Amino acid sequence: MLTDIKPGLEGVVAAETRLSSVDGLAGELIIAGFPLEALATNATFEETVYLLWHDRLPDAAALNTLREQLVQRRPIPDEVVALLRAAAQRQTAAIDALRMGAAALSLSSSGGAENDALTLIAAFPTLIAAYWRLTSGAEPLAPRADLSHTANYLYMLTGQMPNAAQTRGLETYLNTVCDHGLNASTFTARVIISTESDMISAVVGALGALKGPLHGGAPGPALDMVFEIGSAENAEPYLRARLERGERLMGFGHRVYKVRDPRADVLKIAAEQMFRHGGDMALYTLAGQVEQTALRLLEMVKPGRGLQTNVEFYTALILHGLGLPVALFTPTFAIGRVAGWTAHCFEQIALRRLIRPQSVYTGERARRWQPLEER
Ligand code: ACO
Repeated sequence: MLTDIKPGLEGVVAAETRLSSVDGLAGELIIAGFPLEALATNATFEETVYLLWHDRLPDAAALNTLREQLVQRRPIPDEVVALLRAAAQRQTAAIDALRMGAAALSLSSSGGAENDALTLIAAFPTLIAAYWRLTSGAEPLAPRADLSHTANYLYMLTGQMPNAAQTRGLETYLNTVCDHGLNASTFTARVIISTESDMISAVVGALGALKGPLHGGAPGPALDMVFEIGSAENAEPYLRARLERGERLMGFGHRVYKVRDPRADVLKIAAEQMFRHGGDMALYTLAGQVEQTALRLLEMVKPGRGLQTNVEFYTALILHGLGLPVALFTPTFAIGRVAGWTAHCFEQIALRRLIRPQSVYTGERARRWQPLEER
């Protein structure tokens, strides 16, 4: 008899993974053996992908091979550009355009889990940048083989070469969000691939899960709050009024982390380095003042709840500082997380085990069939 039901699967352990460890009480995130702080700020995104897929850092030759494999797969087929053009004409949300474009990558991948994974990683920036340019009436830019994954994304969005601090800022962000335990989108990908479906289907399903505001769709409001506050003096009255109305402060609190989210610290430092090199330092300083005031008020108004800055607060600041519009925040998150999704799929494929939980039936058991004329 099944009686122990966990509707949100809280506390249920459904997989073993060597990819990431999330300790919400210690505020610790380990990615493939590295503390987040060490990996995120040092690795290129290509190194992170290799690490997740192979469980070791690449040597120079292996890194070069991976770079070339990705560069070859950056261009997207004309049919996919046509699809994005149609989506842009209808003002489709960027995350939906990415989902449609990702599904259409079956046209360019030569198949098999590894090829599909390489194609997905390589083509996500091209899909998003092409779509974004089409929505503003510009034509997509061809990817540049001489640029890194991260620099090429920024170049394809704007047509400008990013500076080293911007590239590093985005690199650190993508590494920070590459994997995070058995979150909803990763679980979705594992369920799909466990049926021996294909990698592209698994990642398209994961994108569908990521889109929801309870998962990947929240960084915009944290930034709006900083803009609405506008000045250090206004932080306390604004935040107090919000809390008195029973509203939540965006960018604070987390279901798993009950101490500071380690990703917030990594991104705060990355944001500072980026903003110092030609960014809007006044905005960075204001965000810090808003954060400090919010933490103080949250401890006063909600004592003992462990409400700390979450990943979304500094994500918003970094992505805004890179010139990205809010509509691209969740798609850009996906550029990082697809590394984790594909790595989890490889783990699940190796496991060869269908994910198939059970449900408890709560309906009636002895209904009498009524012919249509009697209902
Ligand atoms: N501002 C004010 N109060 C808060 C906040 C907040 N940001 N977050 C939680 N609280 C309060 C709740 O009102 C509740 O108070 P109570 O005990 O008096 O009823 C208490 O803290 C516990 O809150 P829960 O809802 O149980 O916490 P939960 O773990 O479900 O919430 C969540 C996590 C949804 C992230 C929440 O903190 C929140 O809404 N934050 C703001 C939105 C946000 O930043 N979202 C992005 C999250 S990052 C990510 O998911 C990747």
